[in-house]
Amino acid sequence: MPEKVNLADKIKKQLPAELVHFMQVGGEVAHNQGQSLYLVGGVVRDLLLGRTNLDLDLVVEGDAIKLAQQLTLSYPGKLTTHPRFNTASLKWDRWRVDLATARSETYLKLGALPTVCPSSIDSDLSRRDFTINAMAVGLNPDGYGELIDLYGGRCDLEHKLIRVLHQKSFSDDATRIWRGLRYQRRLGFQLEETTLSLLKRDIGMLATISGDRIRHELELVLKEEFPEKILLRADELNVLKWLHPSLKGNRWLAEKFQQARKLSATPPLELYLALLTYPLTAKENEQLISFLRLPKSLAQILRDSASIKAKLGLLSVPKLAPSRVYRLLYGYSPTAVIANMLASDSAVACRHIQLFLDKLRYIKPALSGQDLIKMGIPPSPTIKELLDKLHQAKLDGKVRSRKDEEELLRSFAPFNSPNPPA
Ligand code: CTP
Repeated sequence: MPEKVNLADKIKKQLPAELVHFMQVGGEVAHNQGQSLYLVGGVVRDLLLGRTNLDLDLVVEGDAIKLAQQLTLSYPGKLTTHPRFNTASLKWDRWRVDLATARSETYLKLGALPTVCPSSIDSDLSRRDFTINAMAVGLNPDGYGELIDLYGGRCDLEHKLIRVLHQKSFSDDATRIWRGLRYQRRLGFQLEETTLSLLKRDIGMLATISGDRIRHELELVLKEEFPEKILLRADELNVLKWLHPSLKGNRWLAEKFQQARKLSATPPLELYLALLTYPLTAKENEQLISFLRLPKSLAQILRDSASIKAKLGLLSVPKLAPSRVYRLLYGYSPTAVIANMLASDSAVACRHIQLFLDKLRYIKPALSGQDLIKMGIPPSPTIKELLDKLHQAKLDGKVRSRKDEEELLRSFAPFNSPNPPA
């Protein structure tokens, strides 16, 4: 008989009182409805590890929507249901809980999402990725806190091992290759020996995964604390090349990611992605953008970054006039500019980019188009030309005050014509 483990105390100690109360009420309501409720997946793993995780995933043996509807009476908030999958999510105050109906899955087509049908908690757990994620905790009053650990997840946690449940895990769903690398780094675990050889065996199955799903995995990697370490390992194992054959997880990338974290403790995903794709040619960039179906704004950042990279030679010329630096960098997304500052190996170019980011991009002339019209210049393209000249003079430090600008303006052509404006 396996030893019985009860996590009620850990739940009480590690989770906020509101969520503990919700789970107790949920268990009671489920019991009254003749259903069973369980806490599952990552949060159980993290309870055992003593790590904070407030993402409650609950599984109902029965009907998750029916339970969620009843729970909204005690927790009025926003209920979203997906009848097709029989799942629900409940949001109230600052909390969110996901409820799913226990299900088994069949993978009819490689790489596609599985076909699901309702089942027991045991078979729900048997479809999961790794033993450490395949544990559940009973929440009904007659077994509250009891750990269900059918695959030795607790033992693997103790031995710091990531282990698949069966031989076909990665071929059923190759995104688990990325997930495995992510957990390995996040938790400081090892891929168990057989799991590692299965992963190597099934790497080619990544070809069956859609760009959308791979993009999602990549985003999750870039949200981890040290994404470069996952990318380095992904390169070593030949996983990275399934994103694009020219991507590299190497020391250069590690340095750049570390430098990005010096600028901000949690750099935006866009900056990490611009650094990861920095070595790609413009054509390769486009291939990756279309494979991952990157959203427009993100695609623009990568394109901007590539255009700035093409101008680094010009930005590396010493003693460039600030207005020239401005013209070279103006109009690009700041993230792309920052990526180039981090990635360029020319100290001069870096200094110029830094000057743009810290100062030049904020400099504007004091006089506006309206001021020029008031000074007697008729509305015409000349106004823009004059404003550009003022802007340039201000960038290069030739004018400082509004008065300087007015004086400079008077030296320009329209004021020196035979019929100067008033
Ligand atoms: N899961 C799986 N195979 C996948 C994705 C998810 O088996 N390809 C299962 C795992 O049991 C996982 C659960 O679904 O624990 C929820 O998925 P997700 O939210 O991605 O994982 P969490 O463990 O909750 O999140 P994290 O590990 O990042 O904290």
